[in-house]
Amino acid sequence: MPVDLSGPLMSAFKKAKREFEKAIKNGDMETAGKKAMECARILRQLSKYDEFNRESYLQKAKKWDAIGRDIEAGRYGVKRKSRPMREGRRNTGGAAGAGEEGEEEADQFRRYVEGLITRSSVRWGDIGGLDEVKRLMMETVVISALQRPSSIQPWKGILLFGPPGTGKTLLASAAAGSLKATFFSVKASSVLSKYFGESTKIISALYSVARERAPSIVFIDEVDALTTKRSGEQSEASRRMLSTLLTELDGFQDKGSDLLVMTLAATNTPWDLDEAVLSRFQRRVYVPLPDEKAAKEIIRINTRGLDIRKLDLNAIAEESVRRLYSGRDIKNLCQEAVWNMIREENRDLHKLAELPYEKLKRRSLRTRPLEMRDFEAAFRKIKSPLTRRDVERYERWAEQFGG
Ligand SMILES: Nc1ncnc2c1ncn2[C@@H]1O[C@H](COP(=O)(O)OP(=O)(O)OP(=O)(O)O)[C@@H](O)[C@H]1O
Ligand SMILES: [Mg+2]
Repeated sequence: MPVDLSGPLMSAFKKAKREFEKAIKNGDMETAGKKAMECARILRQLSKYDEFNRESYLQKAKKWDAIGRDIEAGRYGVKRKSRPMREGRRNTGGAAGAGEEGEEEADQFRRYVEGLITRSSVRWGDIGGLDEVKRLMMETVVISALQRPSSIQPWKGILLFGPPGTGKTLLASAAAGSLKATFFSVKASSVLSKYFGESTKIISALYSVARERAPSIVFIDEVDALTTKRSGEQSEASRRMLSTLLTELDGFQDKGSDLLVMTLAATNTPWDLDEAVLSRFQRRVYVPLPDEKAAKEIIRINTRGLDIRKLDLNAIAEESVRRLYSGRDIKNLCQEAVWNMIREENRDLHKLAELPYEKLKRRSLRTRPLEMRDFEAAFRKIKSPLTRRDVERYERWAEQFGG
C-alpha cells in the first residue's frame, strides 16, 4: 500500500536545485529564495519515503530553509521588511513594496499551514467498529495511487457526521497515523478565532501546500463552525472563509489531477451545513453510536493490559447500547470501572500523596482482575447526553443526505 514517490521527488529536487543555482548566478534573488524553499519542502517529503535516510534529508531541508530565510532577510542584497503576522494590522506598503510584502505574507501563511501538518500515534486498531468508514478511507488513498482509467476518481471530499463522541476525530487521527499521506489538521473555529480577517488566506495557503505535498488529507474538524445555516449568525469572516473553501474544493475536482488531495470534514450537527457545502462532499458517512460488537471492541481497547476474564463483555456491551453510550462514554465507563478496582485494592492511595516522589516510585499499584461489580458501579455514574429522539434525528438525516 505505501506509494514510493522517492524517484520523482529526487528528480524534482535536482531540478529545483539547478534552478536555484541559475537564479543565484543571474542575481534573481526572488526566484532563488523560492527555489531554496522548494528544495527544503521536497527534501522533507523525501524523508517520508526513505526511513533510512530520513534524518539526513531533514537536516538538509533545514539548511535549505536557512538559505531561504537568509535570502528573505536580505543577506543576498535584497532588502525586505519582516513583520509578524497579526490580525487587524493595516497594509501600509506603497505600490512597489506591496508585491513583495504580499509575497512575504503568503510565505508566513504557508509556515502557519506547515505547522498544521500532524503526525499521530493512533492506529486503525485503536478504533472499535466503524469498519466501513475505515475501509472507505483506506481505499480512497490506495485508489489515488494506482494506475486507473481516468473515469475512476477517488473521493475528494468525505464528510463524517454523527453524535458527539463516536470517533470522528479519532478516525481522522488514525488516518494521520496510518496512511502514507501528508495530513493537515484544522479546527475551523480555531482558525477563525486566531486569524479572524485572514482565514481565507489560510485556506488558500492550506490547499496550495497540500497540493505540493500530495498525497494529502486536509481534515477540517467541526466544519459546522464555518457554515451554520442559522443564518444571520454567520459572521462575515466565516462566510468568506467558507466561500474560499468551496472554491478550493471545486478547484481540484475540475483539474482531475492525479495527485490526491482529499478533504475530510467532521461535524456533529450535520443539519447546520448548507447545501453548498454538502454538495461538495461526495461521500457523507454516518458515524453512529457503537453497536454491541463495536462496544465490545471499545471495552477491550480501553482495558488493555488488565485481566478481564471475569467480565461478561456481552452484558456490558448490551447495557452500553441500551443506554445510548457513545465510544467516549464507553471509554469513560471503563476508566471509572478501573478506578473502582484500583481504589478498592489500594485503600491508602490518597495517603500516599504525602510521600516524597522517591519513595512513591518504589511502591507499585496493586491490581486485581476487573469484576462485574466494578462496572455496575461505573454504569451509575456515566450518563449519555443523548436521547432516543436525538439518535433518530441523526438516523433520519443519514437516510436523507448520507451515502
Ligand atoms: N469507535 C471508537 N473506538 C474506540 N474509541 C472510541 C471510539 N469512539 C470514541 N472513542 C473514544 O472516545 C474519544 C472521543 O472520540 P472522538 O473525539 O473521536 O469523538 P468525535 O466523534 O470527534 O466527537 P465530537 O463530535 O464531540 O467531536 C476518543 O478519544 C476515544 O477514546
Ligand atoms: Mg471531534
